[in-house]
Amino acid sequence: SVSPIKVAITGAAGQIGYAMLFRIASGEVFGPNQPVALSLLEIPAALPSLQGTLMELEDCAFPLLAEVHAYDDAEAAFAGANWVILVGGMPRKDGMSRADLIRANGPIFTTQGKALNAAAAADVRVLVVANPCNTNCLIAKSHAPTIPSDRWFAMTRLDQNRAIAQLARKAGVGVGQVKKVAVWGNHSDTQYPDYGHAVINGQPATSVITDHDWFLNDFVPTVAKRGGAVIKARGASSAASAANAALDTIKSCITPTPADDWFSAGVFSNGNPYGIPEGLIYSMPLTTADGRTWNVVPGLELDGEARRRIEVSAQELLSERDTVHDLLGPAI
Ligand code: NAI
Repeated sequence: SVSPIKVAITGAAGQIGYAMLFRIASGEVFGPNQPVALSLLEIPAALPSLQGTLMELEDCAFPLLAEVHAYDDAEAAFAGANWVILVGGMPRKDGMSRADLIRANGPIFTTQGKALNAAAAADVRVLVVANPCNTNCLIAKSHAPTIPSDRWFAMTRLDQNRAIAQLARKAGVGVGQVKKVAVWGNHSDTQYPDYGHAVINGQPATSVITDHDWFLNDFVPTVAKRGGAVIKARGASSAASAANAALDTIKSCITPTPADDWFSAGVFSNGNPYGIPEGLIYSMPLTTADGRTWNVVPGLELDGEARRRIEVSAQELLSERDTVHDLLGPAI
């Protein structure tokens, strides 16, 4: 029999956690022959409500769910984990600047990076969802010198999926016809959703959509500000779509990429082919041939506007890194 894959999830009692756990336990992500063990981390105050979620997981009677444990200690939660999804963090409160948020959350990722270094499985891969996800990922990675640099991902897939949806809607096609949408940079307003290389029904998106002003005036800001629009409409931040994007990221990382597509995630920038500053977690288009190692898509032509936006997002990430410089460990 196949031994379970161990998936650790932090912030499991939060809204993204609730939207994510059941889908992983159902077998949707790792396939119909792969049992799953869930290892959940929360702060002590959230453990009672997490118990209710565990009761519901039990009541689903998922055949592939081998084990579920809840912890308030990171090292215990990450012990032997093959995939770790870092969702837990402090939400932005009224009056908090982005720098305040970064400072409030940074120490969590110092602790969790050290715990991953000490306890995770040798093949661990880590996806950081909690914001600011690129910089949180950099902090955790910097404290985990035994975990190779290519195992760290920050989630920009929700931005990619939002971009695909907007392009499909504008072109009047199904989302399945839209490929090669890259998201560059930070998961923030400075991200650059790259329509210049996007393909719709096998044709360049910029030839299918002839309203060229739409891309920069409408598409880019709509994608970058979609999170805020969802908060305004829902009264709460994106949860099911964020959970979905996390699962899409994992599926893309473990499945050979189709020849006509790529996927985006924030990855360690060292050695990138686009002159992006090193020592950042920066979103770029990626492919994997074996569902384990990945490459940055090489050789993309970037026009002046794309280069400018890619640089602006890099500058923002450099300044986030400065904000947390005292929280960074040796592995950077
Ligand atoms: P939430 O507030 O509903 O849940 C967060 C959970 O994390 C809470 O249950 C809290 O108790 C827990 N938590 C706090 N500190 C923790 C710690 N040290 N260890 C373990 N758990 C801890 O928030 P929600 O909506 O689930 O969002 C989670 C994070 O995901 C937020 O940082 C949010 O900004 C981010 N996010 C990222 C997106 C992306 O595209 N990268 C999209 C949407 C949300």
